[in-house]
Amino acid sequence: MTKKDLINSGKVKSVFTTDNDNEVLIEFRDDMTAGDGARKEVMSKKGTYNAIISSKIFQVLEEGGVKTQLIELIKPNEMIATKLEMIPIEVIIRNIATGSLVRTYPIEDGTPLDPPIVQMDYKNDEFHDPMLNDSIIKALGIATQEEIDTLKELALKVNDILREFFDEAGIILVDFKIEFGKDKDGNIVLGDEISPDSCRLWDKETLDMLDKELFRKGKDDEVMEAYVEVYNRVIPDEEKAKFDL
Ligand code: C5P
Repeated sequence: MTKKDLINSGKVKSVFTTDNDNEVLIEFRDDMTAGDGARKEVMSKKGTYNAIISSKIFQVLEEGGVKTQLIELIKPNEMIATKLEMIPIEVIIRNIATGSLVRTYPIEDGTPLDPPIVQMDYKNDEFHDPMLNDSIIKALGIATQEEIDTLKELALKVNDILREFFDEAGIILVDFKIEFGKDKDGNIVLGDEISPDSCRLWDKETLDMLDKELFRKGKDDEVMEAYVEVYNRVIPDEEKAKFDL
C-alpha cells in the first residue's frame, strides 16, 4: 500500500490517497491541540498510542455490529481506512454531566445522565462548533431526518458497547465525540477516531482523568502517562507485543 497525495491535514491527523481509490491512509500525528487549535504542543508517540487505541476500539465496535472505517493498522500510527465523505456533525454522548454541559446549563458537575444525552454539534471552527438540532441540520442541508435518526441510534449503540469495554478495563466512559461519513454506496459508517483525545475517561476507583482533559487544564506533563495507562489497560499483552513501544 503506497501513501500518495495529502488530501487533508486536520489538527492531529493527515489523510492521504493510496493506490486504491476507495481507501485512504490516515496518519495520526503527535500534535495535541485545545481551544479550537489555539494551543498546540507536540507529545512524543501520542499519534501512535491514539492510532492503536482507536483501531482496537473500532475492531471491538465492528464485532458488536457497528460499521467502521477501519481496514488495517499498517504502521503503529498509520491506518488504512475506507474512504468516506464525512458528515460535518460531531455526535456527542454524555453519561455523566461535565465539561461544556455544566458550563452552559444549570446541572451539577458529575451528575449521572440516564438515559445518556445525545448532542450534535456542527463541525465548523469558524462558527466555533455550535450545537445543532434536527431542524437546524435539515435547514443547513447537512443530513436528512432518516440520516439524523441513524446517527443517533448508532451513537447510542457505540456507547453501549464502549461503556462495557472500558468498564472491564476499570475505566468510566464519561462522554465522547464521534463522527460519521458515507461510503461510496451511501452507507453511514463510523469514521475519524475514538481515543483519549475524543473521550473523557475516568479511573473507576480514583476518578482520575485519563484523557485530553489534562491538556485542556494545562497539566501537559501528565497527559502521556494517562494515554499510556489507557493503552496498557485496553490493549491485550499479546497485541502489545506487535508494537515496539
Ligand atoms: O467539551 P465538551 O464537554 O462539549 O466535550 C464533550 C466530549 O466530546 C468530550 O469527551 C470531548 O473530548 C469531546 N469533544 C471532542 N472534540 C470536540 C468537542 C468535544 O472530541 N471538538
